[in-house]
Amino acid sequence: MKSAKRILVTSALPYANGPIHLGHLAGAYLPADIFVRYHRLCGHNVLFICGSDEHGVPIMLRAREEKISPQKIVDRYHELNKKSFSDFGVSFDHYGRTSSVIHRETSQEFFRTMAEKNIFILNNEEQLYDPQAELFLADRFVRGTCPICHYTDAYGDQCEKCGSSLSPKDLRNPRSAITNAQPVYKQTTHWYLPLEKFQKALEDWIAQKQEWKPNVLGQIHSWFKEGLKDRAVTRDLSWGVPVPEDIARETGVDIEGKVLYVWFDAPIGYISSTKEWAIKNGTPDAWRQYWQDKETRLIHFIGKDNIVFHCIIFPAMLMAMETYVLPENVPANEFLNLEGNKLSTSRNYAVWLDDYLKRFEADSLRYCLANNLPETKDSDFSWKDFQARHNNELADILGNFINRTMTFTQRNFDLRIPERGSMDALDRELITLLKKTPAKTGAYIDNFQMRQAVKEIMDLARFANKYFNDKEPWVTLKSDKAKCATTISLCLETIKTLSFLCEPILPFTSEKIRKMLNLKLDSRANVWDNAGELTLEPGFRLNNPSILFKKIEDAIITAEIQKLKISPKDDDSQDSQKIDLDAFKKIELKIAEIISAEPVVKSDKLLKLQVRIGREKRQIIAGIAGQYQPQSLVGKKVVVVVNLKPATLFGNVSDGMLLAARKEKNLTLLTIDKEIDSGAEVS
Ligand code: 2FM
Ligand code: ZN
Repeated sequence: MKSAKRILVTSALPYANGPIHLGHLAGAYLPADIFVRYHRLCGHNVLFICGSDEHGVPIMLRAREEKISPQKIVDRYHELNKKSFSDFGVSFDHYGRTSSVIHRETSQEFFRTMAEKNIFILNNEEQLYDPQAELFLADRFVRGTCPICHYTDAYGDQCEKCGSSLSPKDLRNPRSAITNAQPVYKQTTHWYLPLEKFQKALEDWIAQKQEWKPNVLGQIHSWFKEGLKDRAVTRDLSWGVPVPEDIARETGVDIEGKVLYVWFDAPIGYISSTKEWAIKNGTPDAWRQYWQDKETRLIHFIGKDNIVFHCIIFPAMLMAMETYVLPENVPANEFLNLEGNKLSTSRNYAVWLDDYLKRFEADSLRYCLANNLPETKDSDFSWKDFQARHNNELADILGNFINRTMTFTQRNFDLRIPERGSMDALDRELITLLKKTPAKTGAYIDNFQMRQAVKEIMDLARFANKYFNDKEPWVTLKSDKAKCATTISLCLETIKTLSFLCEPILPFTSEKIRKMLNLKLDSRANVWDNAGELTLEPGFRLNNPSILFKKIEDAIITAEIQKLKISPKDDDSQDSQKIDLDAFKKIELKIAEIISAEPVVKSDKLLKLQVRIGREKRQIIAGIAGQYQPQSLVGKKVVVVVNLKPATLFGNVSDGMLLAARKEKNLTLLTIDKEIDSGAEVS
């Protein structure tokens, strides 16, 4: 392991204009949290920093659409995302926000210092201007035809079709994203970061980073090859960190309505968030150790779309400042797809974290994602895989081993750690595995190979299950009690080891296991390296076992998959639920009469209904068994979706869907107010 006095870990600051989805988690948050939790268990000094990125044109556009201020938008999503991260177990030491006063001051100080050092170039130039809205059209405020692939709806800063980075002037047939007006050219002045001058220093620095991930180095080298271009770091906008006033006095430029470019201030957010943490902690100067002492290992966890900003632009800014550390590593992940398709926030094709957490446990998703992280190439999340990982691995391997050991100890050893006797070859094999797994797993985590780390941990649980089977303690209980005691003692030691090794991936489960073992976690000790030592005291009393993972039924997964299919959006605003009338008309709703109802075998949630819709008869499987007795439904007239693709649930075809209103566990079917024949259309 690399030695360092302290480790500073950052995760990309997510824009506060929409909820967090699985793609975010797999890119920058889950791997960082695994890394941080591991280092904490090693007893290392590690600080984990993040926060909301609250500036930029998309937030302004969103605010215009909703006719509220950008501050209102970011207030909403800052709180939502902060809570979702916390519920998901992402253990930030501080979650700041770039609309804070400390952030404004820190960003202005960066800008001022760089201006005083004469780093910037001041350019007077013509830029696109919307005469109707009286606004310069920066970045996404302008749309038009991509000069490279001819896509007609490219943004001023990027073409989503071909991925090219653009500047507004590159667009053909530009139009204002606000008024659709044809823009005119107008003079304005901006500050530029002359990246060209930093290229040599950046190349020398990156040359020492041979161990960085190939996907990251590949992107950096292609930027170098093209030659770094100077970048404007200010914008004419009403939302952002204002250009400091003293700069206006010194340069004579009218700074009214000028702000720092969002990508100039966002990474400074890592520093301002660290400052806020230091103040919160009662040690206001402590941020300096993390940012200005060369002993710090600074690690930025990001998604691949952020590489240029973290590996070229921000390091150039830090170099210009001279007093800051540069990142030791930027382990950017590739993208996560969803059911084989690209995630799309604008079409609502995503699994949103806040929504997921309403129905499932955080650890199930952490486990599934950790196994599928896009570490070297794009990877895929599917609900079926999620279910299989949960049922076949978490429940059947990890949960089963722990449960069978705990219940055996409860039944036969009065929930006390039994005394170990002599060991045989298989016992010694298990002990060796316990001893070597922590170092092996830790090395993988420190090397950003989280998938391998999970595999090691699960292999230990798999081995332990087999050990339990091969040892047959239910037989030795009668034939050789000392042997049985040794087996169970070693199984309990294994549970303890697993509880520590699982912590970075499954923090909630790990805590439940420790509770069963009546163990406390000493956050200052080197728990990780000693996790495989045999330390349990014979006679020590454990707590009652509880089931760690309940199986997830097929119907639940089918519903999640269907939800993905029926909620495509056709406007471009992130997370807006609006659809046009045509889209609504595609859903055929009719009145159906329930003719018969019976429970679905092996499911405690589903009922099998035969319904009449006019002259037609159909079978519908509905998840209402918890709320309705089958007999009480016969004769009821309900509203059904009739043009849904049929699905098979527990071996039964379901051809349609009942409408119901739900508030938490309370559910009521939508029925009719006045008598009407079945088959009547609902509109
Ligand atoms: O791509 C994004 O979501 C950006 N908000 C990431 C910013 S990372 C950092 F620089 F703040
Ligand atoms: Zn293009």
